[in-house]
Amino acid sequence: KHRVLSGMQPSADSLHLGNYLGALVNWVRMQDEYDAVFFIPDLHAITVPQDPAELARRTRVTAAQYIAGGVDVDKCTLFVQSQVPEHAQLAWVLNCITGMGEAARMTQFKDKAQKQGSDHASVGLFTYPILQAADILLYQPHGVPVGEDQRQHVELSRDLANRFNSRFGETFQVPEAFIQKESAKIYDLQNPTAKMSKSAESPAGLINLLDDPKTVAKRIKSAVTDTETEIRYDRENKPGVSNLLTIYSAISGTPVEKIVSDYEGKMYGHLKVDLAELVSGHLAPIRERANELLSDPAELDRLLAHGAHKAREIASATLADVYSKVGFLPYR
Ligand code: TYM
Repeated sequence: KHRVLSGMQPSADSLHLGNYLGALVNWVRMQDEYDAVFFIPDLHAITVPQDPAELARRTRVTAAQYIAGGVDVDKCTLFVQSQVPEHAQLAWVLNCITGMGEAARMTQFKDKAQKQGSDHASVGLFTYPILQAADILLYQPHGVPVGEDQRQHVELSRDLANRFNSRFGETFQVPEAFIQKESAKIYDLQNPTAKMSKSAESPAGLINLLDDPKTVAKRIKSAVTDTETEIRYDRENKPGVSNLLTIYSAISGTPVEKIVSDYEGKMYGHLKVDLAELVSGHLAPIRERANELLSDPAELDRLLAHGAHKAREIASATLADVYSKVGFLPYR
C-alpha cells in the first residue's frame, strides 16, 4: 500500500465545515486504500501565542473530531505531533539546508506575519513550513492530501527532499501533493468569496462540526446570497448560492446539476431550509460521538499514545538514516 499523510491544526474549539468537507471526509475515504498517517500539529500551533490549557483542550477536541468524523485508529496511524520528538529533530536538519530567501517566499508566512505585525511574528512562524516538511518526509509518504492553500508547503518539502537526496544520497521519498478538487472548497457564508476559515472576522460565516442544530440552521438561513431568485451554480456571479450548492452536494452525494434541476422554480428559502436540515442531520451523530470521546479523556489520551508509538517506529528509522548521512556519531 502507498502511504499518505496529513494534519490539521488544533487552533479552534471545533473544526469547521471547510476542514470537514475539504479534508477530513477525504482522509476517511483514503484510509482503506492507503497506509494512512494522520496527526495533530500542536508544534505548529505554538508558532502563534496559545493559552496552554486551551491548547491541551483543543488538541483533544481535534482528535475527538477526527475519530468522530470517521478516522479509524485501527486502520490508520493517528497521533499528536509533540509526542513524536523526531519531528522537531528532523526539522532542525532541514532548517540547515533551507535558504533564508527560500523560507521568506512562503506566502502563508507573509500573510500570518502581517496579521501579527512583523516585529511580533516569531522565528517559529518563519520556519513553520520547514517543520511541515519534516512532518511529511519522516514518513516517506507517496501523497499528501491537502487543500490548495497548502500546495506551496508541499512543494517546499519536495525541494528539500530532492536537495537532501542529491547532497547526502537517496534518503527521502519525494511526495506529491494530492490537491482536493475545487468542488470541495467551502467558502464563508457571510463572505462567499473568501474561504471558510477559523480566522474569519465573524463566526456567522462558519459552520462548526460541534455546533448545535439551532446554530447551524440560523447560520445557513442568514447566509449571504444575491438579489436574483434563480438557483443555479455560478461561482463568479452567484458565489453565495454556489457555495450552498457545493455544501449540499458534498454532504448528500448528489451532483450539483441534479440539485439545481430539483430546485427549479423554487426560492432560496427552500434551499436553505432543506440544507439546514441536511447539515444538522449529518453533523448530529458526529457531535454526539465527539462528546462521548471527550467525556473520557484518559481513554482518548491512551489511543493517541498508542498512535504516537506506531508513528515513532517509522519516524525513528528515517531520522536514524538522516543523522548517519549528515555525519552524526551513532548513539548506542
Ligand atoms: P490547516 O489546519 O489550516 O487546514 C487543514 C486542512 O484543511 C484544508 N482547508 C480547507 N479545505 C476546503 N475549504 C476550506 N475552507 C478549508 N480550510 C482549510 C486545508 O487545505 C488543509 O488541508 N499547515 C497545515 C497543517 C500541517 C500539515 C502538515 C498538513 C502541518 N504539517 C503536514 C499536511 C502535512 C495547516 O495549517 O492546515
